[in-house]
Amino acid sequence: MTKRLFVDDVNALGVAFETISSGGLVAVPTETVYGLAADATSGEAVARIYEAKGRPAFNPLIAHCCDFAMAEKYGRFSGLAKRCAEAFWPGALTLVVPYRPGAGLSDLARAGLETVALRVPKGPMANLVARLGHPLAAPSANMSGRISSTSAEHVMAQLEGRIDLVLDGGQCRIGVESTIVSFAQDKPVLLRPGGVAAEDIEEVLGVALLKPTGEGGITAPGMLASHYAPKAIVRLDATDIQGEDGALNFGSSGLEASYTVSLTQTGNLVEAAARLFSVLSDFDAKGVKKIAVAPIPPKGLGLAINDRLVRAAAPRVQE
Ligand code: TXA
Ligand code: MG
Repeated sequence: MTKRLFVDDVNALGVAFETISSGGLVAVPTETVYGLAADATSGEAVARIYEAKGRPAFNPLIAHCCDFAMAEKYGRFSGLAKRCAEAFWPGALTLVVPYRPGAGLSDLARAGLETVALRVPKGPMANLVARLGHPLAAPSANMSGRISSTSAEHVMAQLEGRIDLVLDGGQCRIGVESTIVSFAQDKPVLLRPGGVAAEDIEEVLGVALLKPTGEGGITAPGMLASHYAPKAIVRLDATDIQGEDGALNFGSSGLEASYTVSLTQTGNLVEAAARLFSVLSDFDAKGVKKIAVAPIPPKGLGLAINDRLVRAAAPRVQE
């Protein structure tokens, strides 16, 4: 059952806070679109976001902060990135910057990347984050493949019964997603046009934004990589160990290698998704070159887990 509370109700933020704190999902309005929020430090809470959206693949999520000081705990800001944040936050702008390893966001929220997307929005999302003391991960509150929700009715039409609570703040003022600018390379790149005009950002920065689809001069392969690629090659649906394979088990599968990890002992897909990216980077850290992966059921979150592993199975191509 999905509860719906008007954001101005005296107890609305309190209920939202309790729901988030216990690992639940709350749709929260921002000035751009409604976000489907969960505790960004909990891999299992974040896994439930992907489950609720029915997304067959993992996409990195925006970590919503309450102010610049919080954002700086999670990302490294260059002088230009900071100027951009100061000019447009709180607002309809998301900045991609290098992540501070060990800062505490779940690997799943960042889809394993070394960068992080940070945004300081206006309104109840920022209030909730301030009360929580750390970021909320939130993609747009829509089913996979549908358009972003700009009212509580839109959210309910798509996600009723799949999430715990909708905070109804009426119509979103801007109605399109935030503009995303990456400062992960030496020159700023416009990754997605949105609620803040690119020209306004360029004026503040005093430099042109590179455009991924334009003549902006983006040539380096992988410059816009938005997916983590493990170094190890994986072999799916494995029932045996070959050579120097490492082993990745699921549920009761019993692969045994010199380095063996289980995604979940009980076959719990939420747990498996929550652990996936950190487990893959552990294999890399151990220098494992090939991973034998036990069969993972291709349903629910298993689709996204398999999608991630299929990409790692193929010889590296630009994604
Ligand atoms: O207005 C908005 O931005 C809304 C509200 C809720 O904040 N959120 C939103 O999230 O539109 P979502 O997940 O629908 O879109 C975020 C985009 C995705 O396309 C994702 O690939 C990209 O941001 N993204 C997130 N982290 C990234 C990263 N580290 N590098 C590159 N792209 C990233
Ligand atoms: Mg979206």
